[in-house]
Amino acid sequence: NVGSLKGALAPYWSQVGAAVSPSTILAGKADLLKIHYNSLVAGNAMKWDATEKTEGVFSYGDADTIVNFATANNMKVRGHTFVWHNQTPAWVFQDANGATMTATAANKTLLLNRLKAHIDALAGRYKGKISAWDVVNEVLNEDGTPRNSMWYQIAGLDYIRNAFTWARAADPGAVLCINDYNLTVGSKRDGMYNLVNQLKGEGIPIDCVGSQMHNNINWPTASDTSAMLDKFAALNVTQQITEMDVSIYTDNTSSYTTVTDAHQTALATRYKALFDVFKAKASLISSVTFWGVSDDDSWLQTWPIARLDAPLLFDSQLQVKPAYWAVTGLN
Ligand code: XIL
Repeated sequence: NVGSLKGALAPYWSQVGAAVSPSTILAGKADLLKIHYNSLVAGNAMKWDATEKTEGVFSYGDADTIVNFATANNMKVRGHTFVWHNQTPAWVFQDANGATMTATAANKTLLLNRLKAHIDALAGRYKGKISAWDVVNEVLNEDGTPRNSMWYQIAGLDYIRNAFTWARAADPGAVLCINDYNLTVGSKRDGMYNLVNQLKGEGIPIDCVGSQMHNNINWPTASDTSAMLDKFAALNVTQQITEMDVSIYTDNTSSYTTVTDAHQTALATRYKALFDVFKAKASLISSVTFWGVSDDDSWLQTWPIARLDAPLLFDSQLQVKPAYWAVTGLN
């Protein structure tokens, strides 16, 4: 009995989500979304390049489509994301003369003013409708040091401090998250712990650590996943699984012509290993979101290269896969 994903996971989490685009909703997956999920996040539609391509000119069409569908169907919405080094228009990092910013005090002021205007606009428009915002995304290197993005080069850690402060002011009801990938890796996990510990000590309003959890059939281990959850628990934050998927590839270059039953079985095994950990520590986690609904709409079909992948719980015919049974415990 297929039942529903959100129903099967309800004993653990009240929010089970999927990343969507307007076409996910419009292209025949609305019923599937309504049955299985009670939370949505925009895969791209709330990013800077989608919402403020030109300074001060905001376009909310795709984001509104998602928020309106969610609201109409009693679903929560995660907001993703205010600050990222990708999918951010070049103008954001250009100085008053249109040249790429260098690290001057004037440019720092200009950059932070733009950030505040962007956060005020987005958080303000959707105030009260967003359960959690990914305020900053992917701000760490793999060794746990701050990523040397334009944000960091121009503003140091002040872009993070201000982003959280402004987001709190603009939508006091939203859970504010710092979101990243590979947080099961010790060095990056510890870097995240230290950064959040420092900023919270300064009074910066960080409520949540988001773990993207872009995984593969062999990785990560249950024990590393468990260690991550335990480490962040000491920060007195909630944790969210924000972008879960499991690739059938363990490198960036392989490419299969077909997805086999063996792949699907291995996928289910990894999903089960990771969800067993999440369920055992369910009280540390306030929502679980998959990065897509069915395999055909996964970003992994085109990243890091164009290749066939099968990282989600539903196949391209919208049928449940072994991974679905593994995650839900249904049969
Ligand atoms: C991805 C989208 O799914 C793709 O459609 C887009 O081309 C690139 O970005 N980490 C994140 C997400 O935080 O925003 C990314 O989403 C996937 C990796």
